[in-house]
Amino acid sequence: MSLPPSLELVRTVADLRAKVSGWGQAGLRTALVPTMGALHDGHLTLVRRGRELADRVVATVFVNPTQFGPNEDFSRYPRDEAGDAAKLVSAGCDLLFAPTVDVMYPAGFATSIDVGPVTTRWEGAFRPGHFQGVATVVTKLLLQAGADVACFGEKDYQQLCTIRQLVRDLDIPVQIEGVPTVREADGLALSSRNAYLSSEQRQVAAQLNRIMRDVIARLHGGEAVAPVLSAGTQALLDAGFTAVDYLALVDALTLEPLPEPAPGRLICTARLGGVRLLDNMAV
Ligand code: PAJ
Repeated sequence: MSLPPSLELVRTVADLRAKVSGWGQAGLRTALVPTMGALHDGHLTLVRRGRELADRVVATVFVNPTQFGPNEDFSRYPRDEAGDAAKLVSAGCDLLFAPTVDVMYPAGFATSIDVGPVTTRWEGAFRPGHFQGVATVVTKLLLQAGADVACFGEKDYQQLCTIRQLVRDLDIPVQIEGVPTVREADGLALSSRNAYLSSEQRQVAAQLNRIMRDVIARLHGGEAVAPVLSAGTQALLDAGFTAVDYLALVDALTLEPLPEPAPGRLICTARLGGVRLLDNMAV
């Protein structure tokens, strides 16, 4: 399939719906790729996956205020619409939906979506209200676009589980595609927030994935879960991380902790100064 000559930009829900329903009437399938911009190759991999699964790809760029806490980085979150548009063209995206806050949350907006237990632990415990904000905006984007498939990264594993749950619970007619994490050569998961790291912190950051791999190797070797996780936490602190919010072996669907070694997911958030780095891997 040839790449589009250029990227169309829409800013209203009506224009978005008109484009996607027009494609549907022409027998074309559409993939949706929601993002907050500051695009990197992880995001572009979602766009390329969308192109494999559908005939047209819509990316959304919206820095969603409701998923940021009062002391988080909403106002300084990197924004570069022109740069993002150029990257989207190169990845084969057909349409960019970039609404303003007023379009997404007009005066009088009042609904909040609470997806329940899958959102309460881990990131949910450290970022109160975060997953309600994510669930609300993702539900809106899915309903606004009416795409056939929507792509999300495994990088944000609890977010992916939350989105799968809400789509199932609310009967939203869309297929959710989880896409494996894209990493730097040294294993660090690509993230828009990596831009906040100093060069010294960037060296330490690479140890997160290395230490998680060590933990997984020890679990595969049959060692008990609790001591391996505490040794992993200590190894992260020794490597230079300021704090470890959690390092846990969890059920891959419910995210409940697994007391015994079993197929599941190793999830971790560690801090370097003010930056929280997330990673997760299959066990
Ligand atoms: P954002 O952080 O911009 O991420 C957009 C999508 O890219 C998410 O599905 C995320 O999991 C995926 N992604 C990020 N880094 C990745 C990597 N290294 N490899 C693979 N995929 C990666 O996640 C959000 O925005 C927002 O919460 C959003 C879903 C858009 C709702 O506002």
